[in-house]
Amino acid sequence: MGSQVAKPVETMAVSNEITRLLSKGGEGFAGICRAVTDHMSVIAKNHDILWVNDVAKCYFGRDLVGKKCHAAYHGAYQPCSPCIVESAFADAGVHEHETVVVVANGNKLNFLCTASPVIFDEDGRPMAVIEISRDITRQKKMERERTLASESLQKKERLTRAMLEATTDAVVLLDPDGIIVESNLEYACRFNRTREDMIGCVIWDLFPGPIAEKRKANVDSVFETGRPTTMLDERDGMWNYTNLHPVFDSSEKVSHVAVFAHDITDLKRIGDKLEQSRERLRNLSDYIETARERERTRIAREIHDDLGQVLTAVKIDVAWIKKRLGLDAGAEKKALGIMDLVDNAIRSVQRITSELRPPLLNDIGLGAALEWQVNDFAKRMGIRAEFKKNCDDHGLGEKTSVTLFRICQESLTNIARHSRASGAWVRLSKKKGATVLEIRDNGIGMSHETMTRDDAFGLMGIRERALTAGGTAEIKSTSGKGTRVVVRIPCTVS
Ligand SMILES: Nc1ncnc2c1ncn2[C@@H]1O[C@H](COP(=O)(O)OP(=O)(O)O)[C@@H](O)[C@H]1O
Ligand SMILES: [Mg+2]
Repeated sequence: MGSQVAKPVETMAVSNEITRLLSKGGEGFAGICRAVTDHMSVIAKNHDILWVNDVAKCYFGRDLVGKKCHAAYHGAYQPCSPCIVESAFADAGVHEHETVVVVANGNKLNFLCTASPVIFDEDGRPMAVIEISRDITRQKKMERERTLASESLQKKERLTRAMLEATTDAVVLLDPDGIIVESNLEYACRFNRTREDMIGCVIWDLFPGPIAEKRKANVDSVFETGRPTTMLDERDGMWNYTNLHPVFDSSEKVSHVAVFAHDITDLKRIGDKLEQSRERLRNLSDYIETARERERTRIAREIHDDLGQVLTAVKIDVAWIKKRLGLDAGAEKKALGIMDLVDNAIRSVQRITSELRPPLLNDIGLGAALEWQVNDFAKRMGIRAEFKKNCDDHGLGEKTSVTLFRICQESLTNIARHSRASGAWVRLSKKKGATVLEIRDNGIGMSHETMTRDDAFGLMGIRERALTAGGTAEIKSTSGKGTRVVVRIPCTVS
């Protein structure tokens, strides 16, 4: 302790007192000084440092005694403002402040300093103040980190809330017991409640029995599997498409399920209207097709009955005339020519009438009519074509028969016009309670875009005809690999 510089009388008295205090070894003040990890200094009224403990030396270097406290601890020429040492001298009370100081190794540290009078004169006035300073740099850092973390959490919460309120979906977050732990306003509004009222409710209690059960099963499955799921349900005329999404905790366990309910009532209404409109169009198209078939049958019958009979009569009469022409070779040749022309006309009438209405469809059934159609196609188009039937086609209703016949006709026309195929295969069978017609070719095929073109009326007709007959048509094609049309009509509608 002490300094080489001559000391004023008062300072000497203080130094002596300090020496006295410290000389008591392990007891009292000396013991405390050794035990504490805070740095301690005894400071005179004129700010001179009179004594420091070892901890202070570690922080600020060994030659502190004799220096002004503001110079030693803050590198300043003037006392701090306010200065707790001055305050302690002034009112003999305990004063405290937090400060930042630069220690010997150049680090900036935070200290919590307390100044309190320690040595008094005979009149009880403070002669020296002890300043005890605790290094709170770590606490401060942790405090700052905690503040930052809490700010960032608050920011995230604000963002999440903004997002929850920005969406038009109704959103809630559920715990494993179905208790709502978070809700947006939209969800609350759907139940005429406030957000605060929603929190803590068990979600199943908000729905009528069957919907609640369905929801519970879906939510439970997300908790069990960790996989999102969706559901569609209706409540009081409102249709909801709901997404259920798992929220995982740090151990990858599903801690909550986020529920996003999207109101699709308007969409559903439009969809229903569209479906009704399609249904009406389908009925109209069915009506037109039936009328067309009827008209074709009538025209075919009239051509056959009228023109066919007239031509047959002409042929008989010309044959009769030819016989009577006798030796006139020129006239006989002419008569033969007329007979050939009449034969051609009869064949044309047959072809036209059978195209208008297949002659066999009504008489000997769909199988035979298809076989005739396929053979006629092969003959006329020069494409190898094969027909197979591995079912009984008796008892097929007229609607099914006409539908399948016309679909085959359109498909074979497409093969002839577009496919560049060398072969075509047609098969009529029964599978899983349905009459199945398959038309396949080994041609160039077509792309998905071609297949779904707005002006692909032939392909559209195939699908629509199948639908109006109560069945389905599947058209599969890959560029370069041919085309396959499969029509299925349940036997129950036949
Ligand atoms: N069997 C087929 N092979 C290759 N392309 C086909 C076949 N059938 C149809 N297509 C393609 O699909 C298009 C649409 O067919 P479709 O609706 O019947 O209309 P269209 O025959 O009047 O062109 C055709 O233009 C053709 O490009
Ligand atoms: Mg076509």
